[in-house]
Amino acid sequence: MEASGETTTERSTRSRPGSSSGNGAPTTNGLALLELVDLSVHYGAVVALDEVSLAVRKGEIVAVMGPNGAGKSTVLKAIMGLAPVVVGNVYWRQELLAAATHEIVKEGIAFVPQGRRVFTHLTIEENLEMGCLYLNDKAERARRMSSIMELFPILNQKRRDLASQMSGGQQQMLALGRGLMADPEVLLLDEPTLGLSPKVVKEVFRKVSEINERLSTTIFVVEHNIKGVLDIVDRAYVLDMGRVVHDGTPHSVRETDILTQVFLGKASER
Ligand SMILES: Nc1ncnc2c1ncn2[C@@H]1O[C@H](COP(=O)(O)OP(=O)(O)OP(=O)(O)O)[C@@H](O)[C@H]1O
Ligand SMILES: [Mg+2]
Repeated sequence: MEASGETTTERSTRSRPGSSSGNGAPTTNGLALLELVDLSVHYGAVVALDEVSLAVRKGEIVAVMGPNGAGKSTVLKAIMGLAPVVVGNVYWRQELLAAATHEIVKEGIAFVPQGRRVFTHLTIEENLEMGCLYLNDKAERARRMSSIMELFPILNQKRRDLASQMSGGQQQMLALGRGLMADPEVLLLDEPTLGLSPKVVKEVFRKVSEINERLSTTIFVVEHNIKGVLDIVDRAYVLDMGRVVHDGTPHSVRETDILTQVFLGKASER
């Protein structure tokens, strides 16, 4: 888990509102597994998120896209209790989620932060163990380890090597594997393809799809690689300057010029 000096802000307790978001963002059909409702995050004078509402349903792969500084990482940090939320709520299975980060992981939400952050001085196996330190059940730990090794043959092959000996792509697979060791229902991924070569980027996207299909893990992914991520997601949100400016299927994103607008800095003028 990311070491962070950021504070977790106490969230107000209120019952989950109906299916509508106060932000004008289209709501999903069916019940959301994870939902942000009118959530604002401020870092001092910086408004990182401004009344953001979004939802992820069970089994989906959902992307958050947008330019640098749009607030993408902050969305994931807010879910994990790692961002200073000033107003709004996060709901998990329709219940208010307001707990310490390690409790949120136990609830079934795992976070793979931006920048891979594997423990380079530890072996692959030891890195994976770090993903479920809280779990005392040895048999269950072994079961998870062998399931990860099956999913990532490269990690199995190198299980006793130091993480520092792995390539960037292999370290990203390790970071994914460590997240999965928590046996999460939802995996939050922050820029999993950042800094990887085009060939490895494809492998990472393929693996993310495979995790979703084989393990039925719901995926909520922040990505810069628009083209690649739109090929694997069910839905996408576009963020710009802390606000949701588009929400829809990959087709709907491709059909609009919203991405050109936000990347040219014009969406906020709309
Ligand atoms: N710890 C912090 N202290 C102060 N400001 C912060 C902090 N973290 C983020 N911010 C600011 O909040 C805004 C949103 O940041 P965030 O990291 O969520 O953006 P992002 O969309 O993930 O960007 P990137 O694509 O560069 O990763 C930015 O203006 C950023 O400078
Ligand atoms: Mg970011």
